[in-house]
Amino acid sequence: MKKSDVVQAIFRQPIPQDPKHEKGLAFAPTNIALVKYWGKRDVELNLPVTSSLSIALLDKGAMTTITLQDQAYDTVVLNNQAIPAHSEFAKRISQFLDLFRPEKKWHVHIDIKMNIPAAAGLASSACGFASLMSALNDLFNWQLTLRQLSILARLGSGSAARSFWTGFVEWHAGVQPDGMDSVAEPLAIEWPMLRVGLLTMSEKQKPISSREAMQRTVDSSILYSAWPKKVMQDLAILKQALHTKNFSLLGGTAESNALTMHATMLASWPAVCYFLPETIAAMHQIWALRQQGMELYFTQDAGPNLKLLFLETDTHHVKANFPTVEIVKVFE
Ligand code: DP6
Repeated sequence: MKKSDVVQAIFRQPIPQDPKHEKGLAFAPTNIALVKYWGKRDVELNLPVTSSLSIALLDKGAMTTITLQDQAYDTVVLNNQAIPAHSEFAKRISQFLDLFRPEKKWHVHIDIKMNIPAAAGLASSACGFASLMSALNDLFNWQLTLRQLSILARLGSGSAARSFWTGFVEWHAGVQPDGMDSVAEPLAIEWPMLRVGLLTMSEKQKPISSREAMQRTVDSSILYSAWPKKVMQDLAILKQALHTKNFSLLGGTAESNALTMHATMLASWPAVCYFLPETIAAMHQIWALRQQGMELYFTQDAGPNLKLLFLETDTHHVKANFPTVEIVKVFE
């Protein structure tokens, strides 16, 4: 099954190609997985081996504006900087657009403003593809549902499936080969006291993309076979933690899930290691603070930076111990 088959199945008719507005505009929040997506059962469609569960960062994400242009190519500007057409980033975007313009009759100028460091493990592809998909929907007035947008954005990047809602979001792995049941949905649970702290150790481009690292883990890590079981357990525990508002259980489950994901990467060959010395030092600092009774946990994605998890009541302690941390509210 190809990506274009999925697009056809969703539109069920020729894709409307006439813009309804002068520009398409959309914001998508980035999301941080508490139980991670790591490994695909279908690489072409970005269908995951397991379900995953994330929390959206309220006002951190991508704002994308799309305008049609009278050129035979697309142009992309990220945070006021033109992206070279031959770069991986620009190519990925153009290939994604090709899915929606079978005859390549239109080209666009895309302006993306992200208020998170791109490519440093802060889910920039998630909010990037989600906002791009919503902006296209806006430009052409396709009137797709959030569920359909989630399925389509997933074709650009898996984690983008979760970036259409705020709060806690679960992306169901699904079982169908066409992925029509591999879709995200929000959970009706709020936790206004919850805080996420972005602890940035490096804004440099990561040494290996999450896409490549994920595939290498699936192909070569002997530990990968244990991963689906770990995710099933963690999803059940995390949902229990959410329903009972048990923060220690939430933090511990998220931290253990992230560390297990990184363990599967370390066991692949060549080994994938996103830890910097500063990452490890921060982990030890967090564990030492927990020993002293502070309810502070972390999660880590495909990059060296940590995301701290804590409750509002510990905000000043967190700031005192990590002066550079950027604290984000996750609920209004
Ligand atoms: C570690 O969604 O970037 O952030 O589907 O290949 O685009 P592709 O991968 P991507 O992977 C995200 C991996 C992660 C975990 C997560 O967000 O669940």
